[in-house]
Amino acid sequence: MFANFNSVKYSLRYRNRFLKMLSSVLYDLPTPVNLTVFWNFGSLLGVCLFMQIFTGLLMAAHYTPEVDHAFDSVVHIMRDVNGGWFLRSVHANGASFFFGCIYLHIGRSIFYHSFFLTRTWLVGCTLFIVLMAIVFTGYVLPWGQMSFWGATVITNLFGAIPYVGPSLVEWLWGGFCVGDATLKRFFVFHFLAPFMLAVLAGVHIMFLHDTGSGNPLGIDSDAEAVPFHIYYVVKDLVGVVVMVGVLVMIVFCEPDLFSDPTNYMPADPMKTPLHIQPEWYFLFAYTILRSIPNKLGGVLALAGSVLILYFMPLYPKSLWRGSQYNPLAQLLFWVFVGDFVVLTYMGMCPVEPPFEVVGAVFSGMYFVFYIIYPLTWFVWEVCIFSDEVYTFLDYVDAVFLVDDYSPLFDESIVEKLVNMFL
Ligand code: HEM
Repeated sequence: MFANFNSVKYSLRYRNRFLKMLSSVLYDLPTPVNLTVFWNFGSLLGVCLFMQIFTGLLMAAHYTPEVDHAFDSVVHIMRDVNGGWFLRSVHANGASFFFGCIYLHIGRSIFYHSFFLTRTWLVGCTLFIVLMAIVFTGYVLPWGQMSFWGATVITNLFGAIPYVGPSLVEWLWGGFCVGDATLKRFFVFHFLAPFMLAVLAGVHIMFLHDTGSGNPLGIDSDAEAVPFHIYYVVKDLVGVVVMVGVLVMIVFCEPDLFSDPTNYMPADPMKTPLHIQPEWYFLFAYTILRSIPNKLGGVLALAGSVLILYFMPLYPKSLWRGSQYNPLAQLLFWVFVGDFVVLTYMGMCPVEPPFEVVGAVFSGMYFVFYIIYPLTWFVWEVCIFSDEVYTFLDYVDAVFLVDDYSPLFDESIVEKLVNMFL
């Protein structure tokens, strides 16, 4: 009887509905035993989100969203508000950490084929786009030279959309140029959207717990699961300590590491800076935009470079989940990572030879990766299973054996899309 009374059923976390929900996510959740450090970035993203909302809320109490006062109100936060310099520096550098984590998180998911967790992945793609919009509007708020000219360049891109473009741009601006109305609406968006992001992150996790996490072996891990607490609570905390440690070091020792000195000059609509460039995390997309001479083409390529992620769950599945035992896919993956780094670097260079050509070639390679990545699965698996697999159709048969379906062959694309959302 006592054994029963002490059993987990009587624990508070089972009797209280809220604690029960919380513990099913953070305490009792069955988690694969073998998750590596690359599974730390999800929780780090959650920490970044919380940190940005917290510091942002405190700064909002001292910020003035008006063109004549915005720049000075930021200077006021830095110089007069108690601890204001710390809040601002954590917030500004926190954005870089947020993107660093999100790129590693996406990279992990591409390497280990986590995009086949379709709903989690699709919500993740939306999180990424909303985050980009939040960071872009946030960068405009200090109303420095780069804030103003960055806003002007990027909002003008919408003007390339046929028919509706020019009206859309004026609607976004709330006038005939980037001005007071633009600053105020960007502030409202930048204030509210992070809460939307928090809700979306909740949906992301909910979908993930529906299927369970993937793992670095790419095999079913149900038989080897451990409870989230204490194993992954401690492991995630180690990640948090390391990330916050590095962030605090940057805030104390090198707070301007990621920022552009041009933004220390107040916005001047009469003076265009010599080099307009976004922060490092947007540079890859900026290079893709600039490498196409036609404005609409550039905008489409820019949008495509992010939207292409939405299509990854449509890939036919490989026999083995992930690239960990496929040297061909690994080679391609690391070339892709290198491509991303070169694109980022090219975004800082002027549009002139040789950077122009290098940017265009690497932009093309960026898209080619998405086309040939699944081919590397096919080629490698046909090679190593050459005893049983002679033709492409044998391969498809084999795919059928390991999985209920192969998206290319037994379902139409429309059926597949419908199934994704059901
Ligand atoms: C605010 C942004 C985000 C937050 C807070 C977040 C949070 C998380 C967390 C906590 C996990 C579980 C731990 C882990 O696997 O690292 C996770 C898993 C996952 N996330 Fe995200 N995420 C975000 C953005 C994204 C984005 C942009 C994508 C993809 C485009 C994405 C795709 C995935 C996938 C596929 C998994 C499952 C991976 C697996 O178990 O194999 N997430 N996310």
